[in-house]
Amino acid sequence: MIGHDILLAAEKLRQGLTVGIPTETVYGLAGNALNEEAVVSIFKIKNRPFFDPLILHVKDIESVKKYVRNFPESAEQLAEKFWPGPLTLLLYKSDLVPDIVTSGSDLVAIRIPRHPLTLALLNEIDFPIAAPSANPFGYISPTKAEHVELQLGDKVSYILDGGSSDVGIESTIVNCTGEKSEIVRLGGLSIDAISQTIGYTPTLNISKNSNPLAPGQLDKHYSPHAKFILTDNIEETLLLHRHQKVALLTYGDKTYDADIYQLNLSKSESLEEAARNLFHYMRLLDNYNPELIISCKLPSFGLGLAINDRLSRASNN
Ligand code: TXA
Ligand code: MG
Repeated sequence: MIGHDILLAAEKLRQGLTVGIPTETVYGLAGNALNEEAVVSIFKIKNRPFFDPLILHVKDIESVKKYVRNFPESAEQLAEKFWPGPLTLLLYKSDLVPDIVTSGSDLVAIRIPRHPLTLALLNEIDFPIAAPSANPFGYISPTKAEHVELQLGDKVSYILDGGSSDVGIESTIVNCTGEKSEIVRLGGLSIDAISQTIGYTPTLNISKNSNPLAPGQLDKHYSPHAKFILTDNIEETLLLHRHQKVALLTYGDKTYDADIYQLNLSKSESLEEAARNLFHYMRLLDNYNPELIISCKLPSFGLGLAINDRLSRASNN
């Protein structure tokens, strides 16, 4: 069931059920983080391995402080500037956070989301929400309530409809446990914005399959069903595959053969617009059922870095 009923969503969460929730980044599959059975059901519904920990979502910084052992100055600076918003901090967890949420890690990933409905929901309940993106493990993240409905509709008790996610790409994850902060997942908050706030450029420690710091970031992720190629040169790649049923994901003021199904992430070359459109367009292209989706690479700055990260994981097949 889809709707706007915050009180009903809160009641479902209190009962230990899962609810689809809107955030400014992507939709989440939410459950009571302090209820182990609810957390187990999140993993099961997503078909997600238990070694891949979940992000804790809370309503304010006071709540954050309950679930972490300490809150270093770097975290404080980032939190003040960017929360609520598309930023997740990795910090040492307090004993209140069940091990199942962090997959046994001593670190917890935590954030305050910016969507008004979800903030209102968090204000209705007295526990934090654990919420991964509300997609089956490995598939494209949802940015609309209908995406959640289509894929998990029969498995969640309710979907809170908050319209389209206005950032469109998952939160940036910053590890604040070391002497210097490092970025462990590129996302909806740019590195430049983070650098300006902390006064230096954080190192990138983007995970591979084996990296324990963000174990969920498998190389192959965010994948459509169709084969997906990421290229610097669409014309050339098109030529190579001219006998196949192809669909294109493009960017900027360029159109290709009118017979080819193509979607443009942003004609005006706005990376923010491209991030907003990214996952929805990947789904539309996939629904067209092509043999092959060809996507161009976006510029390597600002949100372009995070978008290229998602595109390259989608293409790794
Ligand atoms: O924008 C977002 O962050 C969305 C919305 C719903 O908030 N959530 C999201 O969750 O993207 P998910 O589960 O799809 O991705 C969370 C990532 C995974 O790569 C996971 O491995 C990492 O965060 N992560 C979570 N807890 C962690 C922890 N304790 N230590 C290291 N990595 C962690
Ligand atoms: Mg995800």
